[in-house]
Amino acid sequence: MAAYNDDFALLRPGRRRALSGFAAGALAAFLPRAVATTLSASDDLCTTPAQFDVPLRIPAQRGLMGRLVVGGDPVVLRAVSRAGNAPRLAYAANVGGREYLNPTLVARTGARVRIVLANGLAEPTVTHWHGFTQDTGNDGNGETLVAPGKSFEYAFTVRNRSGLYWYHPHPHGATAAQLYRGLFGLFAIEDDDELALRRSLALVPGATELPLILHDRRSSAPDAYAPTESDQLHGWYGDEALVNFTPRPYLDVAARRYRFRILNAANARVFRLGIRGDDGAPIPFLLLGTDGGLIERPLPADELFLAPAERVDVLVDFGRLPIGGFALLETRAFDPMHAELRPRRSTDAPTDAMAHGTAPAQDNATPASHSHSDGAAFALLQFRIRERAARAAPMPTRLSTLPVASAAPGSERPLRLGFAKGRWRINDLVYDVAATPIVVARNAVETWLIRNYHTSMPHAMHLHGFQFRVLERETSPDPLASLVVDAQGRQATDLGLKDTVLVWPGESVKIAIDFRHPFAGAQTYLFHCHNLEHEDGGMMLRVKVG
Ligand code: C2O
Ligand code: CU
Ligand code: CU
Repeated sequence: MAAYNDDFALLRPGRRRALSGFAAGALAAFLPRAVATTLSASDDLCTTPAQFDVPLRIPAQRGLMGRLVVGGDPVVLRAVSRAGNAPRLAYAANVGGREYLNPTLVARTGARVRIVLANGLAEPTVTHWHGFTQDTGNDGNGETLVAPGKSFEYAFTVRNRSGLYWYHPHPHGATAAQLYRGLFGLFAIEDDDELALRRSLALVPGATELPLILHDRRSSAPDAYAPTESDQLHGWYGDEALVNFTPRPYLDVAARRYRFRILNAANARVFRLGIRGDDGAPIPFLLLGTDGGLIERPLPADELFLAPAERVDVLVDFGRLPIGGFALLETRAFDPMHAELRPRRSTDAPTDAMAHGTAPAQDNATPASHSHSDGAAFALLQFRIRERAARAAPMPTRLSTLPVASAAPGSERPLRLGFAKGRWRINDLVYDVAATPIVVARNAVETWLIRNYHTSMPHAMHLHGFQFRVLERETSPDPLASLVVDAQGRQATDLGLKDTVLVWPGESVKIAIDFRHPFAGAQTYLFHCHNLEHEDGGMMLRVKVG
């Protein structure tokens, strides 16, 4: 039976008694697993709290996702396989007598960090620090691997501004399998802007400021990862959503502001995130930050798309909700525009999503009959409003200062996303460890024009080593129209520093990348789709920065 063996450490005191004798994960295993997964948008999720019956895991000072400050002595992260436990694979650490699993690493900007990856798996692995300004040797790009039983020490200076970054395996061809089984963690970088925001809003990490890791699983065999050809084309989708490794989660909240720092850690699923009250009315929120940290000023939003590997930082005010009321974090139905999925035969069966009425009917086939297709509606997390809170402090009008997003003079570098000869490609190429199709002059600022074919699907394009700015979106598909906030066709989530950007079919996205770096000699990075099936399939190019 799958159970989190550190559940008790992670439960808050009030919950511990209620579940005495049962680890929450063990309890969950006795409950019908399908309950939370077959809901459609029309179900009354908020008034049926039994469907959210597991307290959300919250990072404590130890245990799963526990906060671990790095920057002093080296910390050993041991990649381990935990048969019979969830997550099946994890990074284990023991620091000062405290045990951690997939610790939330915390460091100040400027800190000198030493982290030893010890490979306790039966297969090679390597760890990539997603979003970090990093030299190739510390980037963990998968071109050198750590063999079973061996270790590798990463030693680097934290150069990024504050933000929620993450770390995960990157052994080419096995990235998806290792990540899907649970091998990843968060890395929170803190600087003065971050601490000022926390102070002004009286946010307490672990209480009123929480990370939310979203991912999906195939509930019938949560650890089995065996993509079919169809999964490799579309991506691997599950039928059960988890938040912070918790199925059917709820969170007790006070009627005040909460800050949620959300990561999409799914292999392939795009979330259309929104919040609503138990009357069904949407609850607007404020966007505070994106992949690379705080944006300049808070932006009101009703919903946003979050693609694999993207992060958003949002502030939600439960202050107007009645005590005893509920709210719900959900992913709403959308047309996933998998235009590559058009059935070739008219006899193709109706899709799973169509059968459940959770996605708009369209002429595409389903990724797999036992998983919800991309664009299906899911309820993710229930908030239970439990108590009043002191009057809120005024919202700061300015959060941070961003580097100017400017187009570089000269030509744009074209990058075309498409499918040919059985594989997703960038500029008709697939990953080749011996080829460097993109060469950038040291210290250049480049404009990249990423264009996705109409007969494609959304691709979450990620660049290692550098944060970039989105300058413009053109010919965006209709479902994005309501999200556009400026004349450049951008969405609120485009207005910060980004390391991953979702490019929809038919869309052109222009980004500006400042390739200045402080590292000696030329460095090699990767540009790839973060749909992990596409990445493992070779939708990835090497980028040399001179
Ligand atoms: Cu998170 Cu190369 O990726
Ligand atoms: Cu697809
Ligand atoms: Cu892709």
